[in-house]
Amino acid sequence: MSRKIRIGALISGGGTNLQAIIDACESGKIAGEMVFVGSDNPTAKGLERAARHGIPTFTVDYKAIAAKVREAPEKVSPPADFDINDVLLKQSLFSSHFDTEKMKAFMVIRAMAEDRMLEEMKARPFDLLVLAGFMKTLTPYFIDRVNTDPYDPRIMNIHPALLPAFPGLDGYGDTFRYGCKVGGCTVHFIDYGEDSGPIIGQRAFSIEKDDTEDTVKKKGLQLEWELYPECIRMFALGLIKIEKKSHTLKNGKIIERTVVRIEK
Ligand code: GAR
Repeated sequence: MSRKIRIGALISGGGTNLQAIIDACESGKIAGEMVFVGSDNPTAKGLERAARHGIPTFTVDYKAIAAKVREAPEKVSPPADFDINDVLLKQSLFSSHFDTEKMKAFMVIRAMAEDRMLEEMKARPFDLLVLAGFMKTLTPYFIDRVNTDPYDPRIMNIHPALLPAFPGLDGYGDTFRYGCKVGGCTVHFIDYGEDSGPIIGQRAFSIEKDDTEDTVKKKGLQLEWELYPECIRMFALGLIKIEKKSHTLKNGKIIERTVVRIEK
């Protein structure tokens, strides 16, 4: 039998996706073992779920770090290996029109929190990091320290919409308010943008006339609990490959996309 992969998870809230992944590991559906659960939110209910399964947990309180920096900016400094120019060049969380000083301040505070997160994770080696309702965007500082090989991405995310539609904080709400007739969820690898990395899997459901924002969310979550473990199962079996594809558009322009190929 091949070895189990080591899975780390980051969460911010209730952790129902986390639970589905833990259950799939315990039942043997995923050839994997959860080695830690980290959170930016000390009161995340998902931390209790992890503890119930004997999984080590840690918290890095992003809010407290940001408050400390704002209170006494002169007393804090970014991690020694943090390079603001490198981070600004790579990131696509903000458009180029965004205020540079504000962007720099955001990245410095984030990197300080991420540095603490990386420190916690160092003691717990992992093969895959899953974001399971983790509501903080990751900067290139963090991503580059986890993904050292561009053809071997190791950070997965689940998003409550059919990407690339409705990235951001409220995928189901945005889908519902737009009047979409179909909603869904997406599992993808993280890149330097917001919910923009290569798509691994998607599930869709129809939105009927008597659906509400609440029922849309319920329908979506049910599918998330199937989709996320399934994508992780395929990762554990080595079935997920990354490839770069070039396409020539009708206007002659050539675009390159990084996509996922699933080997059956
Ligand atoms: C899920 O719907 C997940 O897709 C979403 O947060 C919820 C977490 O629920 N994630 C995001 O919006 C990430 N941008 P859970 O804590 O019960 O798993």
